[in-house]
This record gives sequence, C-alpha cells and structure tokens, in this order.
Amino acid sequence: MAVNLRGRSLLSLVEETPAEIRHLVDLGHDLKRAKASRQERPLLGGKSVALIFEKTSTRTRSAFEVAAADQGAHTTFLEPSSTQIGHKESIKDTARVLGRMFDAIQYRGASQATVEQLAQYSGVPVYNGLTDEWHPTQMLADALTMSEHTHKHRHETAFAYLGDARNNTGHSLLLLGAKLGMDVRIGAPAALQPSAEVVALCRRVAEDTGARVTVTEDAQEAVAGVDFVHTDIWVSMGEPAEVWDERLDLLLPYQVNAALMAATGNPRARFMHCLPAYHDAHTTVGARLLEQRPELSDGVEVTDEVFESPASIVFDQAENRLHTIKALLVATLA
Ligand code: CP
Ligand code: NVA
Repeated sequence: MAVNLRGRSLLSLVEETPAEIRHLVDLGHDLKRAKASRQERPLLGGKSVALIFEKTSTRTRSAFEVAAADQGAHTTFLEPSSTQIGHKESIKDTARVLGRMFDAIQYRGASQATVEQLAQYSGVPVYNGLTDEWHPTQMLADALTMSEHTHKHRHETAFAYLGDARNNTGHSLLLLGAKLGMDVRIGAPAALQPSAEVVALCRRVAEDTGARVTVTEDAQEAVAGVDFVHTDIWVSMGEPAEVWDERLDLLLPYQVNAALMAATGNPRARFMHCLPAYHDAHTTVGARLLEQRPELSDGVEVTDEVFESPASIVFDQAENRLHTIKALLVATLA
C-alpha cells in the first residue's frame, strides 16, 4: 500500500507503521543524493515552520533550518525567554495561535504531554525534536546511517545501545529496532533500563515484525556479534548535575571503549552516538569529569580512541539529521 504522510505529526514513532518509517528513511536517502548532485527540487515554497526549543540544540535546530531553507520554506525560532510560551501563555493557547500562522511546528522540551498537546490543538503537523521520553527524528537519521554502513538487510542487522536506557534515546532505539524487525539489544544496569511499558510495547511490536529484543545488564552479551554499538551521554538535558557521581558509578562498565568494541567479535562493527558526546577534555563538563575521576581515562560514555577511530560514524549520523528531517518536512507538508 502506498505511504501517504501528508498532514501527519511525528510524536514518538509509536503510531508510525514500519512502512511509514522506511518511507521517511528512504526519502531521506533520495533527498541526500539529490542535494549532493545539485538536483534537489524545492517543494516547500511558501511554507512556514515554527521551531520551539525549550532545551538547547545544535543538530536538530540546524537540521530543521537548513532542510527548510533547501526546500524553500521559512522557519521561525522560538524559545521561552523571548516569547510568552509557558510562563504567560498556555501550550493550548500557543498551539492555537501558531496553528493560524505556521504550516507545521517543531517542539523540543521536557514533556511528551506538551508536544502531544501542540498536536492536539494546533491543527498542523507537529514534530517532536526531543522530549524526555522520545527522540523520533534522531531515529530516522540513525536508521539511514545504519543502512548506509552495512550491506545486510534490516532483518539481519544487529545493534546495541549501552548506557542510560530509560530515556529518549534508549527508548527510541529500542522501538526503532522493534519496528524495523532488527536484532536490538539494550545493555544497561537494572536502575537505568527502559521502562517496563516501553519494553512490553517493543516485544508486542517484535511479534509482528520478527525483531529480536534483548534487555540485559551484561554489556558483553549486549554487544556480542552486533553491527553497530550506540551510546548517548550519561546525564541528559534537564537532569541535575548532582546525579553525575551516581551515574558514573553505575555506568562505568558500559563505557564504549576499545575492549567493548572488540567484544562485538565483529571487526566491521561501527560506533554511533546521537551527539553531543563527552569523549575528551575539550568541553567544560568533560574536563571536570576527567579531572575528578581518573578511572575515566580518556572519555566518559565513549573513549576518545573509539570516537576518533575509523569505526566511528558519528558525523555521518549527524549529517543525516539534515536529510531525514528534510524527508519529514517534505512527506508531511509538500
Ligand atoms: N542529537 C541531537 O539531538 O543533537 P542536538 O541536541 O544538538 O540537537
Ligand atoms: N539523552 C540526551 C540526548 C541528546 C540529543 C539528552 O536528552 O540530553
């Protein structure tokens, strides 16, 4: 059946069918080639997209802005300190105002309920650019990047996510793998594993798609035989800095280092990270952590050695945010 996403929102990937996800990833691939060969046709002339960012961003904001510009659309960046959003005007009212002016709304912030409310009341497509619970636009880029770096079919491709698995990236990767019928593993300590509800959802999805879903505390088991090893920062946006000590104690065995990459047993295994990453002392947080905890050697969630190795495809992954977010705009608005 032909996929038609016109007018649709992207809130979590829970509602999307495997065919719809594949369609967006394939369209991202096509748009990437079109841009590279200067064959891109702008299909979004006259469209306007509101970009609400209650949390900081480099990739997601840039991807939406450049994707829209490449396609002839206009964007308006809105954040709490210079708008009425939240402190003076409710999300429900904001949704109804923006829906009268814009053709679509991107939202990044803490609460999934907020992005759902925007979709409910704005009357236009709403895209979740990251909430505490989900990061669906990242998943489109991750799926495209994995497909570019293996000749295997999705059903034969295995990937692991190690680290803090009870929030946006961990939950989303588990659901992505389940929806695409992949062999998806989560390696995380019991306290940081995906919610029982998300695991149950993914297991139900896997029954239909043929995916294999593994959640384990054993980092070596999680990565055995995989094609891709993913991780994410250990303390996410919105969490207090005080949790770092406990988080480091819990997650040190899950650091992606050369030994862990070797434990895949797959010399072609690739390293992925949604970024930003603490892999050296060239950020204020990275420098402080490396100074405080000598056992971190050269990196936090990933060592600099792995991050800078030929196995690392993190910048392909970052670039693919542009092409897949463009696919989302084109599929829902053109
Ligand atoms: N991966 C990602 O969402 O990056 P930003 O926080 O820079 O948007
Ligand atoms: N889990 C991270 C993802 C950043 C893209 C965070 O929420 O900060």
